Amino acid sequence: MPVHHARRAPYVCASCIRRLHHVAPRITRTYATSGPKTAISAAAERSPRPSLRAPARAVHLRRNEYSTSTRKPLRLAIIGSGPAGFYTAQRLMRQVKDAVVDMYEKLPVPYGLVRFGVAPDHPEVKNCQDSFEEVAASTRFNYIGNVEVGKTLALADMKPHYDAILFAYGASEDRKLSIPGEDLPGVYSAREFVGWYNGHPQFSHLKPELDKGERAVIVGQGNVALDVARILVAPLNQLRKTDIAEHAVAALSRSKIKRVEVVGRRGPLQASFTVKEVRELMQFPKVGFKSTGLRSFYPPEGIHTLPRVQKRLAMVLQQGAPIDKHDHKKRWELSFLRSPHAIHAKKNRLNQVIGNRVDSIEFQKTNFVPDANPFSEDAKVHPTGEMVTTEASMVFRSIGYKSTPLPGLSDLGVPFDEKLGIIPNDVHGRIISPSAGPGNLSAGHLPGLYAVGWVKRGPTGVIVNTMMDAFTTADIIAQDWSTNVPFLNTEKGSDASTGLGWDGVKDTVLAQGVIPVDWEAWKRIDKAERERGKQVGKVRWKFADTEQMKAAAGLASSWNPQKMKATAGLA
Ligand SMILES: Cc1cc2nc3c(=O)[nH]c(=O)nc-3n(C[C@H](O)[C@H](O)[C@H](O)COP(=O)(O)OP(=O)(O)OC[C@H]3O[C@@H](n4cnc5c(N)ncnc54)[C@H](O)[C@@H]3O)c2cc1C
Ligand SMILES: NC(=O)c1ccc[n+]([C@@H]2O[C@H](COP(=O)([O-])OP(=O)(O)OC[C@H]3O[C@@H](n4cnc5c(N)ncnc54)[C@H](OP(=O)(O)O)[C@@H]3O)[C@@H](O)[C@H]2O)c1
Repeated sequence: MPVHHARRAPYVCASCIRRLHHVAPRITRTYATSGPKTAISAAAERSPRPSLRAPARAVHLRRNEYSTSTRKPLRLAIIGSGPAGFYTAQRLMRQVKDAVVDMYEKLPVPYGLVRFGVAPDHPEVKNCQDSFEEVAASTRFNYIGNVEVGKTLALADMKPHYDAILFAYGASEDRKLSIPGEDLPGVYSAREFVGWYNGHPQFSHLKPELDKGERAVIVGQGNVALDVARILVAPLNQLRKTDIAEHAVAALSRSKIKRVEVVGRRGPLQASFTVKEVRELMQFPKVGFKSTGLRSFYPPEGIHTLPRVQKRLAMVLQQGAPIDKHDHKKRWELSFLRSPHAIHAKKNRLNQVIGNRVDSIEFQKTNFVPDANPFSEDAKVHPTGEMVTTEASMVFRSIGYKSTPLPGLSDLGVPFDEKLGIIPNDVHGRIISPSAGPGNLSAGHLPGLYAVGWVKRGPTGVIVNTMMDAFTTADIIAQDWSTNVPFLNTEKGSDASTGLGWDGVKDTVLAQGVIPVDWEAWKRIDKAERERGKQVGKVRWKFADTEQMKAAAGLASSWNPQKMKATAGLA
């Protein structure tokens, strides 16, 4: 990318202005002379923080890149530092050359589910962090960790200082079964368990009771269910070298779990897990596989008549695990056409409850509805009324994550669809509201407010899907910015946002005694985790506590290097 006009930032080169003028004369008019020195660029130049300084030079614009229109540089707040937030920042900063992005994260550490969801034995999936690091290296990007929007920082307080706010806060709850016994000790959500083994500070004290019995039942047949199953049966020697939390290694070494049953309410052709994850489970030494009656779910003409994805999955399931069934130490199983009905504690012969933790789970058998094509992914089932009870010393519900409304959404007029668990949007990412009146370019859209990722689409999709979705949202923000539709605060006149971003709100945050974590501080945490990991033969030994994280970053309020070394395991 050629760069010139190396004086004051930000402004656009004359030939780019001519090109843009051809398509959008109104937008480019103010660039005809020199680059306008705006409130934000002046503030940024004064800032002692390199990450807040505006870029030093003006740039050429590619054909699909947008200028800053008649406004000052776009100041965007992104709430959430998962793949959705990072990929949107990456694309937007490429397209809008003077956009300045502040990314807020409630935890001290970035990357969302890449760090706290993706299984520790899938390190290659975490390579997307390299791209995110490149994004964070930009002088137009500012990471603000340890600041929970809606709690530490009110949305209403942010609004005056930004042109746009992007909601990228993912799904931090999970769906409930809503059946009796769901709250019994020994019943866990997969989300809690995944957070626990990945060292999420919220779940590091979970203490799952892995030593109370041999049988675990997982309800739901998605990839999260298979992640949980894999952690329960995987050889510990393989896991301990990964970045799995050390408390999880210790607890798994005492685990008595030998059988893991993954139960679906429909059939194998409707399961949402993918073939790669099934294959991984089939390849463990000393882990067997059982699933009865698989053939009854396949077309009588044979598996080869199925569409490609279903065919590959059916073949892997049909083949099973290579291990002899008498030789295995642990076993995983798949059961189908069972809908969870109740979870029970131990009962005596008189049917009186005598236990205080989970002992069994009762399912109602289901069947395909009469007009369903049982080989289709969408085939529906209905209950048959027949019950079946399975012994269980642990039960995991793994039926999907759930987004919730951020406190203060209504202060900005942002609706939340409780049923779908999303912020209503126009698919591109513009937030829509039934109460927003018709307008020309923004009918129903809430100016300057966008959503992306799981809070935009719902809690499904792998990182690549989230990336594509982020690109769509970034493109629409860039397009809106270039076409002069209203943004935040423009109801008070054009350019009404102070453009101060984080500088406009940080006093509110600091006044509460909250210590923000910037990118440099995160890098210190990252380094400390890798270093102490090396000492125990792991790629990384994560801090599973926010105080430890802050200590490793040198940010604890009662900073004591010796104490920090001891807490961080480096002393
Ligand atoms: C258990 C699990 C395993 C997965 N494994 C894989 C895999 O192997 N491969 C793959 O491709 N995909 C995988 N996925 C899917 C992938 O993780 C998602 O597609 C992706 O993370 C969604 O991105 P997101 O940015 O929308 O949400 P998230 O990644 O959840 O990021 C949201 C971020 O917002 C932050 N946040 C929340 N509230 C606030 C607030 N109030 N203020 C500030 N910040 C806030 C959160 O702390 C989090 O960092 C997995 C998902 C799960 C659940
Ligand atoms: N390795 C990876 O690539 C990886 C790992 C983990 C997660 N992910 C991705 O992350 C996303 C979320 O995964 P997920 O497993 O949480 O969700 P998911 O793929 O949507 O699977 C949810 C499962 O729960 C079942 N279910 C829903 N409600 C139920 C109920 N009331 N009773 C019984 N069963 C119920 C669903 O069955 P029905 O189909 O019948 O509704 C489905 O089997 C997915 O896109 C997944 O691919 C990827």
